[in-house]
Amino acid sequence: NPPKVLVFAGSAREGSLNKQLAQLATRRIEALGGQATFIDLKDYPCPLFDEDIEAQGMPENVQKLRALLAEHQAVFIASPEYNGFITPLLKNTLDWLSRPYGDTPGLGLFAGKWAALVAASPGGLGGIRAMPLGQQLLANLSLTVLPQPLSLPQAGSAFTDGGTLKDEATASKLDALCQRLVDRLAQTHR
Ligand code: FNR
Repeated sequence: NPPKVLVFAGSAREGSLNKQLAQLATRRIEALGGQATFIDLKDYPCPLFDEDIEAQGMPENVQKLRALLAEHQAVFIASPEYNGFITPLLKNTLDWLSRPYGDTPGLGLFAGKWAALVAASPGGLGGIRAMPLGQQLLANLSLTVLPQPLSLPQAGSAFTDGGTLKDEATASKLDALCQRLVDRLAQTHR
């Protein structure tokens, strides 16, 4: 089976710019010879993490997300920046997926997987402030995070009607990141 990338956004809202970016990345990964699955976290609502809830058994959507993650060898995440941090939705999702602790001795479900992180914002900084924080979180989960995260400023006017990026330089940066992910996966999953 060829290695696959699980793509999702750290925003659940209908008109999410980060979902648009994640969907574009999904198409670009496939165009560059990779395999990718886009999921909308709105379809997998999970409660705010609470060990009491966990003790009653993993919520059904957490189990579904765990099964999806297990079938993929990389994640590609597009997350908004909320007050300079990643969103509570993304943190909550990753926290649930990091459980149960010690599932695989010392490592967990994320071990050995690759990660790429990008951000889109209607603002001028594009959400770049949250990227090092998100990268650190992913690294703590024992994913190998690709360097050079991408941020998309003025994202409200960055997309064409067809969902591509108007700015060619930004489009080629996204392609370069997707290509690196596809290449790493091919190298490590021969
Ligand atoms: C924001 N937004 C925002 N934008 C930004 O560039 N830097 C920031 O620190 C913040 N902080 C922030 C906090 C909170 C609580 C909200 C709700 C929003 C704006 C944010 O980037 C904007 O709403 C995006 O459109 C959200 O991403 P999606 O939903 O379009 O993917």
